[in-house]
Amino acid sequence: MSFTPDISVSVCGVNFKNPVIAASGIYGFGEDYTDLYPLSELGGISCKGTTLNPKDGNIPPRIAETPSGILNSVGLQNPGVDRFIEHYIPMLEKQDTVVIANIAGASVEDYEQTARKLDSTSVDMIELNISCPNVKQGGATWGVTCAGAQSVTKAVRAATKKPVIVKLTPNVTDITEIARAVEAEGADAVSLINTLLGMRIDIRTRRPVLHNNVGGLSGPAVFPVAVRMVWQVSNAVKIPVIGMGGIASAEDAIEMMMAGASAVQIGTAIFGDPYVPVKVCEGMKKFCFENNIEKISDIVGTVKPW
Ligand SMILES: Cc1cc2nc3c(=O)[nH]c(=O)nc-3n(C[C@H](O)[C@H](O)[C@H](O)COP(=O)(O)O)c2cc1C
Repeated sequence: MSFTPDISVSVCGVNFKNPVIAASGIYGFGEDYTDLYPLSELGGISCKGTTLNPKDGNIPPRIAETPSGILNSVGLQNPGVDRFIEHYIPMLEKQDTVVIANIAGASVEDYEQTARKLDSTSVDMIELNISCPNVKQGGATWGVTCAGAQSVTKAVRAATKKPVIVKLTPNVTDITEIARAVEAEGADAVSLINTLLGMRIDIRTRRPVLHNNVGGLSGPAVFPVAVRMVWQVSNAVKIPVIGMGGIASAEDAIEMMMAGASAVQIGTAIFGDPYVPVKVCEGMKKFCFENNIEKISDIVGTVKPW
């Protein structure tokens, strides 16, 4: 039998030519990768986290290597939403890939105004990073309480007609509670996981390796945690789930989809090999062909729990 597997997927009515999305914060706005391959090879790109005003980010050192992963405290360095709209969106519009704006804020008003500005642009979807601090609440992370996660979801929902993806933090006791809370406020999809909070110490200087003291762990080390959370969340909500955390191969991406992800994002692995997203797509097609799967979307959530 000969057939060409269909690896396109649809998430919230948006069509992706394949399920592989570059994760926010690793790929910038795609500008450094266009010399390597056309961005149209990607299903989509989640752009660098963007805030209402430009941000310099945290003081270095901001990245530390760890076994099978990295710890980062970049701190949302970005040019601000106006520059994103003027400079980067026109470039991204020409790339024939799904463009996801990833936004963050220190207050509900920040999120709301950033989303409102993006509503009249060509971005296809808006992803809310709720792993950043709520300044009015003494710096507590929005996404660790249902109330915090709901407040930003509600404000952004009211500010835009675009599909809203809420990106969940894994630094919680029960991620399904937060997922249900944002679904109730009108989130069209959830994506997970953001980084896991970690810390390293230089034993000679007794100083934390990161200037920020703590940072977010990503890369293969977090993969099993991410698969577990994607599985739990996809069983708890009706909206689509986008899975990420440590994906580095087609096998990882397929596993994440079997756990319940309708599409996947790839972050840290791109630092080591910028071609990983392209290789994952090739590997998915091969897997589908060898296993007689006509549509990749047929594998979503097909894990058979014991
Ligand atoms: C250097 C770096 C910067 C990141 N910046 C953002 C960001 O701006 N917004 C966001 O939502 N997630 C950000 N993330 C989180 C990733 O998008 C992703 O959720 C996480 O790293 C897990 O996936 P991975 O193991 O494939 O990297 C960042 C991660 C890294 C490593």
